[in-house]
Amino acid sequence: MCGIIGYVGDADETLSVLLDGLSNLEYRGYDSAGVAVGGDGLRVEKRAGQLDALEAALDDASVAGPVGIAHTRWSTHGPPTDDNAHPHTDERGRVAVVHNGIIENYRELRDELEHEGVTFASETDTEVVPHLIARELRGGLDPEAAVRAATDRLAGSYALAVVVAGTDALFAVRHDSPLVLGVGDGESFVASDVPAFLERTRDVAYLDDDEFVRLDDQGWTVTDADGATVEKEIRTVEWEAEQTGKSGYDHYMLKEIHEQPVSLRQCISGRVDELDGRITVEELDDLGAPETVQFVACGTSYHAALYGAQLLRAAGIPANAYYAHEYATAPAPVSGDDLVVGVTQSGETADTLSALREAGGRGAETLALTNVVGSTAARESDHVVYIRAGPEIGVAATKTFSSQLVGLNLLTARLADRGVERRRDLVDELRGVPSDVQAVLDESNAAAVVEEFVDADAFFFLGRGLDYPVALEGALKFKEITYEHAEGFAAGELKHGPLALVTANTPIFAVITGDGEAARKTLGNVKEVEARDAPVVVVTDGAAEAGQYADHVLKIPRTDERLTPLLANVQLQLVAYHMAARLDRAIDKPRNLAKSVTVE
Ligand code: F6R
Repeated sequence: MCGIIGYVGDADETLSVLLDGLSNLEYRGYDSAGVAVGGDGLRVEKRAGQLDALEAALDDASVAGPVGIAHTRWSTHGPPTDDNAHPHTDERGRVAVVHNGIIENYRELRDELEHEGVTFASETDTEVVPHLIARELRGGLDPEAAVRAATDRLAGSYALAVVVAGTDALFAVRHDSPLVLGVGDGESFVASDVPAFLERTRDVAYLDDDEFVRLDDQGWTVTDADGATVEKEIRTVEWEAEQTGKSGYDHYMLKEIHEQPVSLRQCISGRVDELDGRITVEELDDLGAPETVQFVACGTSYHAALYGAQLLRAAGIPANAYYAHEYATAPAPVSGDDLVVGVTQSGETADTLSALREAGGRGAETLALTNVVGSTAARESDHVVYIRAGPEIGVAATKTFSSQLVGLNLLTARLADRGVERRRDLVDELRGVPSDVQAVLDESNAAAVVEEFVDADAFFFLGRGLDYPVALEGALKFKEITYEHAEGFAAGELKHGPLALVTANTPIFAVITGDGEAARKTLGNVKEVEARDAPVVVVTDGAAEAGQYADHVLKIPRTDERLTPLLANVQLQLVAYHMAARLDRAIDKPRNLAKSVTVE
């Protein structure tokens, strides 16, 4: 997930509009940034690091021109370096492109262009785009037609903004990646999100898939894929400045919860093939077949690891999950035939890094499952799989957890050969997960349910099998941001002690999904707590008719039983969020907690 902005207007203001826009978009990515300002010529400047590195590089220069594009990056292909930063250009520096999304067929396009003699300057998927446009320009097309022809070759997700030297116009197009048009007084904008230009105009139009925008000194036009004019409704955004980076949501956490359909789509993009049911994780091409897998992780990532270990065991591969801080001092035996996977959103958690180093030092192969390209875990491990969730600003992990669960399904499919049919089922259901999550977000009654329990003494979360890590995660999220006492239990453990805590004022959230024995048994535990008068909220896909025994039901769609825990967790994210909002807590920055824990 990256941030892009494009501007056409006053030549002397272009650079400052772009830099202000980038600073307002930094929540979408902050590992590198760049600008291209065009008109007669084209000046491109880009730097790895935060925005001030780019500003310092531009300090000495008078950069002016009536048209410009800019980008703030969150890497998905290639580490954050000056060369990999956007804008990307063709070899002659005549075409500059910024991109948000993933070009799935970039390998094939890159091979084709290199075969024709094109030299690439970066490792990114994006760079194929300016070279394709340049080829069309050389073939005689005008800039607009060249951009359209190049876009026709792309598969994947993209919001693109393009400038061409010698042209005072800007071209932009979107497919499965957000793009919004801003209409100002004598100036116009495109951007990934409204905050980029909110200080200059509140009049916006949201673009739909495959719409193409041209901005020039006459204003703006939007056309469809066939070139027919599209009438767009211009709306006025009413947000307060404080809400801008949050796209109108009250908190980053809520925004990130709602981003999950997009972040999950990004996670599977180019990795699952619906036609032949194949799951490909390019990064793992050189991974062998380990005898056992050990996961090391902390906090939310540890809950993902517990889930991953169960997936692998169910697929016949011995696997275990360990707290990284425990593992670092009391490691499990490993050999060169074993794989140790560090699950870490940030890639910088000191405990997880220590555990990975400990395992690597003992000869195991190591793999980082992380969200941050170029992070320490990614650099130090033998293998890395990126979950591509985009930056997460809220301290409480939400969208990264969901993407970790999907990443663990991809890893399991890669390590276990379970036959084409079973894989095809998973592929179909994985492709459906983003819309299943959307359905949960659209229909959740979590806000109303928590209202019933504002004065409760404590909150307990139960689950069994793959629902157990979700119960733990539900409780962790709840305690982190509400400051209320919450505990997650393996449902079967209840009668071995925790049942003593259960009263009429301790609501129980029971996660019951799938058709198996686990669901039926958890239902038995629900009956035990009901007998002690505890109010019961069941999070369910309808398993074992669990809803009949509950005071409240948080419903999720039915899907593959490996994926229902992910949907159940979205309901519990909303439970935690709405209770914390009701109690007026500091949701994005809960007391005493930090986003990245870089000390042991
Ligand atoms: C909880 C949370 C933490 C992290 C933990 C590990 O919402 O965010 O529990 O999950 O500190 O962090 P990473 O995944 O960066 O290693």
